[in-house]
Amino acid sequence: MRAAPVLSGAAALVAVAAVILACTPRPSAQAGHTLYEDYCAACHGPGGTDGAHPDAPDLTRLSANNDGAFPTGLLLARLEGYGQGLHEIAASDMPRYALLMDGPLTRVELPDGRRPQVPVKVVAINRYLESIQQ
Ligand code: HEC
Repeated sequence: MRAAPVLSGAAALVAVAAVILACTPRPSAQAGHTLYEDYCAACHGPGGTDGAHPDAPDLTRLSANNDGAFPTGLLLARLEGYGQGLHEIAASDMPRYALLMDGPLTRVELPDGRRPQVPVKVVAINRYLESIQQ
């Protein structure tokens, strides 16, 4: 039989692909919550409302302040903007935010139709914040 080794080779490839897919981190709200606690809660508070930093805005009101629509594009731009001096106070903590930008990228669809590639971790925080809107 000659086909057997080929088949098992293909089966092994499928198995490897399945493992890689299973290991690809997904931008879940749950993962975002953990990241939020590590990177954001110190200033914005554990639930997004009661920040320790006096000027940190209430992050559960992002949709309310944007005519009811969650501002995905603004948030992603803001998070990515850490390196460019937007969100300046947090930018002083740069090495940590560089870690947030680290890792695999994923594509997101923005309301205006653009589909930028964004770090999975940033999208996860975005999903978490979307889940806590009041
Ligand atoms: C060092 C304190 C600090 C940290 C850490 C921090 N922020 Fe902020 N954040 C602020 C302050 C202060 C403001 C208001 C001033 C400004 O806009 O830069 C703000 C503003 C924002 C805004 C704008 C809200 C609006 O209504 O426009 C968003 C969104 C935000 N932060 C998200 C985050 C996220 C997500 C993280 C974690 C990845 C984070 N911040 C980490 C202090 C911080």
